[in-house]
Amino acid sequence: MFKKQIIAIAATLLAGHGASALAADAKTVEVMHWWTSGGEAKALGVLKDNLKERGYAWKDSPIAGGGGEAARTVLKARVASNNPPDAIQMLGFTIPEYAAEGYLANLDPVATKEGWDKLVPPPIQRFSKVDGHWIAAPVDVHRTNWIWANKKIFDELKLTPPKTFDELVTAAAAIRKAGYIPLAHGGQPWQEATIFDSAVMSAGGPKFYQQALVKLDTGALGSKTMEKAFDQMRALRGMVDPNFPGRDWNLATSMVISGKAAMQIMGDWAKGEFASAGKKANVDYLCFQYPGTEGTFIFNTDQFATFKKGEASVPGEQAFASTIMDKGVQARFNQIKGSIPARLDVPEDGFDECGKKSMTDLRSALKADAMVGSFAHGHAMPDGPKTAVYDVVTHFFNSNQSSADAVKALVSAVNNSK
Ligand code: BGC
Repeated sequence: MFKKQIIAIAATLLAGHGASALAADAKTVEVMHWWTSGGEAKALGVLKDNLKERGYAWKDSPIAGGGGEAARTVLKARVASNNPPDAIQMLGFTIPEYAAEGYLANLDPVATKEGWDKLVPPPIQRFSKVDGHWIAAPVDVHRTNWIWANKKIFDELKLTPPKTFDELVTAAAAIRKAGYIPLAHGGQPWQEATIFDSAVMSAGGPKFYQQALVKLDTGALGSKTMEKAFDQMRALRGMVDPNFPGRDWNLATSMVISGKAAMQIMGDWAKGEFASAGKKANVDYLCFQYPGTEGTFIFNTDQFATFKKGEASVPGEQAFASTIMDKGVQARFNQIKGSIPARLDVPEDGFDECGKKSMTDLRSALKADAMVGSFAHGHAMPDGPKTAVYDVVTHFFNSNQSSADAVKALVSAVNNSK
């Protein structure tokens, strides 16, 4: 399926790049990514500076578009025309898919020297390694089951973080009555999918989440519990403003920062935007878990894979992988980005309270088997079913479909995609 897509794209492109496209400057590493928001760009600066210190120039290839859909499309086209970048940001199942086709370079030499095996949590390694070989370097651990709230609005209305979904609904009504938008949302499929991660977890807990979104079990997908997840999505739809369609995630975050809206359900890259605007945790904004998901950790890890491009590229690519996994880099990068380090040995000093909470929660969720991959960000199921579920979730959010019908659609979409 994946190979066919690449071949199909290649057929639509003019051939002829050939080997010349691969003969890049050996002292330059071209890095493709989708980190173009204010907070993301600042965090990226940490990686750029460190690579420079190692004697390599950074050639920046940003492809705007939160969630990375646009970047993945451009990558397919570049691979098809035999002109991939040296390194690219990748999520979840995309990594083993490219590795299976033989495109990715083996990072074992640097991974072994630096002892990555002992540093990275197993649920993340599951995507960084194929057949026991390292093929990607994880830089962060993001979490999707967060709510970001404007503290001034919460204080004014004497609200505290809701503990149950019903409390969230009650708080939203009070916020609306006071003239604020309860929920800042960007109507793009990946953002709706990001909310769905939390709704499924809240409705059924980590075992149900795994059964439905990781194992794709028909019974779980078609269950009453899944209907409850859609019921939550319907209630959330009622909390947004009329201008949500198409809005970028960082513009939604700005609405919370400026006090136009009270909350946003988003991964902790949103925290990078608060930080970039000079806002402080528990002073200007609050961070708390989506009600009903406390104790669970829905993760999304940014990794960088490098492409096989011949001997000349090897030193630059290995140096780049070392940059990504550098202990000091992971501390500085993640303090800006809003995430926490993929290395478990980075101390929590310098992280704000939301970051520290994430670090503690990750460790306990790991023990309790409550750390699960984000469906929205490609860590729960491969690309085929993921796209099918995206369509179901977005159609539901943007129509008047009933939860019972959405569940039926979900079951058939997943079965057809297998
Ligand atoms: C990435 C984050 C990024 C976010 C918004 C996610 O897919 O994992 O690193 O900040 O998209 O662009």
